[in-house]
Amino acid sequence: MDSDRKFALTRRQFVTSSAAAVVAGSLSPAALAHDQTPAAADRPTSSSPSRVIIDTDPGVDDAFALLLAMRSTELKIEGITPVAGNVPLELTLPNALRMVEIAGRTDIPVAAGAKTPLTRRLVTAAYVHGENGLGGAEFPEPKTKPVSEPAPEFIRTTVRKHPGEITLITIGPLTNVAMALDLDPDLHGMIPRIVMMGGSLAGGNITPAAEFNIYVDPEAARIVFQSGIPITMVGLDVTRKTGLTDAHVRRLESAQNPVSQAAANIAHHAIQHYREAGFLVDPNMHDSLAVAAFLNPSLLKWKEYYVDVETAGELTAGETLGYSPTAGDLRRSAEAEKKAAQSMTIRGSAPTLATTKTSPVLRDHFVPNTNVAMEVDSAGFFELLIGRLTAK
Ligand code: BDR
Ligand code: CA
Repeated sequence: MDSDRKFALTRRQFVTSSAAAVVAGSLSPAALAHDQTPAAADRPTSSSPSRVIIDTDPGVDDAFALLLAMRSTELKIEGITPVAGNVPLELTLPNALRMVEIAGRTDIPVAAGAKTPLTRRLVTAAYVHGENGLGGAEFPEPKTKPVSEPAPEFIRTTVRKHPGEITLITIGPLTNVAMALDLDPDLHGMIPRIVMMGGSLAGGNITPAAEFNIYVDPEAARIVFQSGIPITMVGLDVTRKTGLTDAHVRRLESAQNPVSQAAANIAHHAIQHYREAGFLVDPNMHDSLAVAAFLNPSLLKWKEYYVDVETAGELTAGETLGYSPTAGDLRRSAEAEKKAAQSMTIRGSAPTLATTKTSPVLRDHFVPNTNVAMEVDSAGFFELLIGRLTAK
């Protein structure tokens, strides 16, 4: 059996068994529970850099996110794991290698990830990121090679080397992470947090319901959200407020360092590509905001939800649903609110005539698994992003 086929088989078997466990309710509340540390408590400091792995599909905004991360001394980047997403792996992998070369960080291992989602055909976003994934900005072929381990195995072994220490920053479809969790049933307990660009509580960008990263591989996303790993979700609710403007590009151009020059080149092409495609908005820096959220969570406002992923909906596959006892305009007395937080069930769709008389209870009671970013200080974010890319 060739290795690609072996991978594909593993993925299918994995999804079947994981989905069955979820349907049967065998993921216990304990598995879903997490330490409810607010995101701010995870904030890294430069005196003790935080170990991270960045899972990515570069991608214009991924490229910015990688450059920002590599210019942030608070981070010890243990590895970068490209996955197919914005463009196929044949492009996301060399694009990631190009970024480490531009940043002078070829010491960071890059491990090639999945070429396809767990069970679906790959959908790409070349219409946003250009055919080469970098808005059409050209860079030389990278000389650096990826490490020999495939990304899921790399994630597994690296997390096991530093159990409880490595935060995963995920800014692409979640295929690699779901596969790593499948390789090692104990791995979820060794990952303190996933900081994710993905999802949205208020509408999508590829369908009315789904955000791109979740849409591409909803089965993988569901596995990740149900893994019990605490998640920080930086979704479209906030990333849509991060348009990169011509003024930002001018600042990048005026700094004389290879990172800001490369970022200016990508940004310039991306803006041009956007205008040619008829978009009236500026390219969003979705993924850099996830990195910034890890570096400085106080740039955003947060609210805890139980988040799950729709995988079956004909119109809604890839939607992230946030359950909260205080969602929407529900108002309760303090006492009723406390009771709701302790006893609220997570309810599925209304009962059909063919089945039971009551709505299915998907979870016995509400347990938050995700800190969701609700608001962002966009000016503060751009100060951080452009400031770091242009620094000497
Ligand atoms: C996400 O999808 C990709 O196109 C971007 O790189 C980002 O990760 C935004 O929906
Ligand atoms: Ca991305």
